[in-house]
Amino acid sequence: MPEEYGGAEMDTLAYALVMEEISKADASHGTIVSVNNSLYGKGLTLFGTPAQKEAWLTPVASGAQIGAYSLTEPMSGSDAGNMASRAVLNSAGTHYVINGRKSWVTSAPYADRIILFTMTSPEKGHNGITAFLVETNQPGFARGKTEPKLGIRASATSEIIFDNYECPVENMLGKLGEGFKIAMTILDAGRIGIAAQALGIADAALEASIAYAKEREAFGQKIGQFQMIQQKLADMKCRVEASRLLVYHAAVEASLAKKSGARITLPASMAKLYASETAMYVTTEAIQIHGGMGYSKEMPLERYFRDAKITQIYEGTSEIQRMVIARQLTGLK
Ligand code: CAA
Repeated sequence: MPEEYGGAEMDTLAYALVMEEISKADASHGTIVSVNNSLYGKGLTLFGTPAQKEAWLTPVASGAQIGAYSLTEPMSGSDAGNMASRAVLNSAGTHYVINGRKSWVTSAPYADRIILFTMTSPEKGHNGITAFLVETNQPGFARGKTEPKLGIRASATSEIIFDNYECPVENMLGKLGEGFKIAMTILDAGRIGIAAQALGIADAALEASIAYAKEREAFGQKIGQFQMIQQKLADMKCRVEASRLLVYHAAVEASLAKKSGARITLPASMAKLYASETAMYVTTEAIQIHGGMGYSKEMPLERYFRDAKITQIYEGTSEIQRMVIARQLTGLK
């Protein structure tokens, strides 16, 4: 986030390194940092007016408040453009009245501010979606149940419900009907953060596996001396390093794009796809190397495995990343 509004204004590579290191220790905290910075913070930095940045970015950049991002609905996840929630301008032209449910909103149980995407002109499809800045302490806003999740359990996720929530017109982010493109542009940046998170989880599982292979003995030798364990470690290392190169490359492309304005869709999706698939592969093999101990909650391996799974799902599933990559390559839809 910009220094002018209290942020550190580090570049995307620095951000990716931070996400990787935090996620190596605890992916849940990586998720909180990611949504706050790359979805909420980046969204305001790219699309907010100076007045919106002053009011909506400053308290989040300082850490006093937490920001979130809400695109998904109960009946639309991957097909993000297909929304049932609505925002209707009131007769005085002063407020949009918002109704509907949004789901899977990371940090929603404690977020103070949210970038919300909702339909203002349903007949226009994608071009009928608009972004708004909403405050969670206002009438008409409520939280649903907190999701009981497989992994990233220290990060809270819930539905949010709008019941005649009145959003002042000045809290529109970007222009009327530009919401879908804003959502996608923000996700391009966000996906680099999730890719870095996946890299951190994979690296933690690899490090633990190397240490265990050097220490655990079976049949009179260290298990790291068995070819089957050596093959696993070698393949895990190669995939981790390949992920690292894709993640850092995407981060550098994002920094360059700050000046050129180029889209970073392709490198971001490649990094997200490869790093998240790698995290699942490496954490699965890491449990196998650890045997029964890997399956036990006494060691962090089962947590790495559970945390890795979400990186293949949120901010665009692996299937969606493949679709995005192929469309970028061919220009076909
Ligand atoms: N940047 C800028 N514009 C983009 C864009 C991008 N990355 N991607 C698409 N657009 C534009 C297109 O150019 C097109 O514009 P025109 O109409 O002017 O041609 C418009 O947006 C519509 O694009 P598509 O026709 O490609 O849209 P689509 O319906 O086929 O969907 C999709 C494309 C890639 C599948 C998209 O819907 C998608 O990314 N889905 C996954 C959503 C997702 O990641 N959800 C996770 C939400 S966040 C989360 O997980 C929770 C959390 O709290 C962390």
